[in-house]
Amino acid sequence: MMKRREESPGASSSAVQARGLVAATPAAGIRVIFRWFWPATRPYRGRLLASLLLVAVGPFLDTAQVWMFKLLIDDVLIPRNFHAFPAIAAGYLGIGLAQGIGSFSDELLSAWLGERFVLDLRTRLFDHLHRLSVDFFDRRQLGDTLSRLTGDIDSIEALVLSGVTSTLSYAFEIVLFTGALFYLNWRLALAAMVAAPAFLAIARFFSARIKNASREQRRRSGSVTAAAEETLANVALVQAYDRHDAETERFHRENLGRFAAEMATTRLRALYRPLTELLETMAVVLVLSVGVWALAHDQITVGGLVVFVTYLSRLYSPIRGAGRLSNTVYAASASAERIIDLLSQKPDVREPVKPRSLPGGAGKAQGWVNFDAVTFAYPGADRLALKKVTFTVAPGQTVAIVGASGAGKSTLSKLMLRFYDPSAGRISLDGCNLRDLPLATLRRNVSAVLQETLVFDGTIRDNILWGKPAATEAELVAAAVAADAHDFISAMPDGYDTRIGQRGRLLSGGQRQRLALARAMIRDAPVLLLDEPTSGLDAGSAERILAPMRRLMTGRTTLVISHNLLTVTHADQIVFLADGQVTGIGTHTELLAGNPGYAKLYRLHQQRDTRAKENVLLQPELI
Ligand SMILES: Nc1ncnc2c1ncn2[C@@H]1O[C@H](COP(=O)(O)OP(=O)(O)OP(=O)(O)O)[C@@H](O)[C@H]1O
Ligand SMILES: [Mg+2]
Repeated sequence: MMKRREESPGASSSAVQARGLVAATPAAGIRVIFRWFWPATRPYRGRLLASLLLVAVGPFLDTAQVWMFKLLIDDVLIPRNFHAFPAIAAGYLGIGLAQGIGSFSDELLSAWLGERFVLDLRTRLFDHLHRLSVDFFDRRQLGDTLSRLTGDIDSIEALVLSGVTSTLSYAFEIVLFTGALFYLNWRLALAAMVAAPAFLAIARFFSARIKNASREQRRRSGSVTAAAEETLANVALVQAYDRHDAETERFHRENLGRFAAEMATTRLRALYRPLTELLETMAVVLVLSVGVWALAHDQITVGGLVVFVTYLSRLYSPIRGAGRLSNTVYAASASAERIIDLLSQKPDVREPVKPRSLPGGAGKAQGWVNFDAVTFAYPGADRLALKKVTFTVAPGQTVAIVGASGAGKSTLSKLMLRFYDPSAGRISLDGCNLRDLPLATLRRNVSAVLQETLVFDGTIRDNILWGKPAATEAELVAAAVAADAHDFISAMPDGYDTRIGQRGRLLSGGQRQRLALARAMIRDAPVLLLDEPTSGLDAGSAERILAPMRRLMTGRTTLVISHNLLTVTHADQIVFLADGQVTGIGTHTELLAGNPGYAKLYRLHQQRDTRAKENVLLQPELI
């Protein structure tokens, strides 16, 4: 599914620079683009029709207005018959007024339509992105996705709505003006048409090139945002390693790529305009020569010739517009391709077609967790991250998953949350295969504190309530107290309403972790996943966090992941993972006696960690 393996961070950086950070998206024709986006205009078909009507009326008024000039010259000025003037002047004014009203309503209506369309499409894309699997975001540059969500979406409007209305308006103008030309004098009209094929040829030549150039330009735009997002999101790392110059250089390089792409499109557009204008001038000179000849032979009146030239110059404007439009449309289709690319991504993890409900009813699980011969490889990876992992946890039991770094412990928790599905084997909750449970049911029953403590910019209250939006104030405080977070929260200037900054950076690591615990507590789910809950904490903080964690674990099925064997010696069951395989299951005493690998690792930890006693997570006397 992922076409862009080569864009993973493993790719050599110089090669990535030359191509830009973001890979090209598959091309799509105009028809395909319309099939994707035209249905989105359905809610506004009424207004769209009104807008199209307004668009059609405009050219009629224009044609009539020019015709008034012919009447003025031929019926008033030349015969010096001034009685007719007031009527013509009134007609002229009337048309002007109608044009004003039409233009006002048209502008309002088309802006409304365009903005609504963009708004809906953007929301739809955002919603779609949230349904995609975590894996999608692991492999794509976030900055590029953001650039599609903000920049590219806007251009689709230029294609789907403005594109259609402008095409229609130009078509009306061209038909009406051409009709008027032939009506005035067909010979002159034919002479004027000589330039038409040349116009078409130029437009075709340019539009194909502009499409390619625009594709490159959008892709490069995505690269620039991606580079900026990556660097700015890791500003602490950049400063700590003094990489500021290198990152600026990298950003500059991406911008140079975008600059080159921008110049390439501009060159095309800049050339297009004078070329068509030159062609237009040549055609007008030709028409004037024929016109003077026709006037000399009384085949056209003075008024006729004047309005003929007027119609002709008016005609070139929609023709030029149509050419420009085709360029805009092709440029917009480069953006549309980038949106289609996102919209056509399917989540790897799907909602079940026939969802089952949990046996206990009320949607709340008892807490049986079973891994049955679970084998898993990350998408695109050739190594198995888990091999035939089997174990069962009874309700209320605590199982510790231990093993060296990279053994597959976090992978297990990702599978339990269904961020991925196993390649083989099954995971069940209360006997239900996770694949058969609605995702919402599963995630309501599993509360997770992940290895990277994930919090978002907002207040402390927002972050805790994320676990249970409908919770009362008392529940909120109870969860914070249980997570040993209430004290530090109360000491903050705004208490629960303190903002914690981007990714919670205004908090300390331990505070962040306790906040995540409070969130997991308030969720009150029967199954609890704790991935390295004490990682990155100093001995003191780790100790402080143990008590709330034990409270959280009582009465729940808990999978606690740790690479430090010392912290989990008293779990009901220990699953010892090595290289994705279960090499031992049992209590600490059993494993110590029967599993040499475990025993060796345990002794290693024991030697290293003199504070072992204080760090034991599951000391029986404390539970
Ligand atoms: N998104 C991913 N795509 C591909 N491979 C991955 C991905 N995440 C992890 N891996 C690989 O899967 C293996 C298991 O990783 P996992 O995160 O489960 O290890 P872990 O036991 O939790 O280690 P640690 O104790 O360091 O947290 C590793 O070899 C890792 O490189
Ligand atoms: Mg891990």
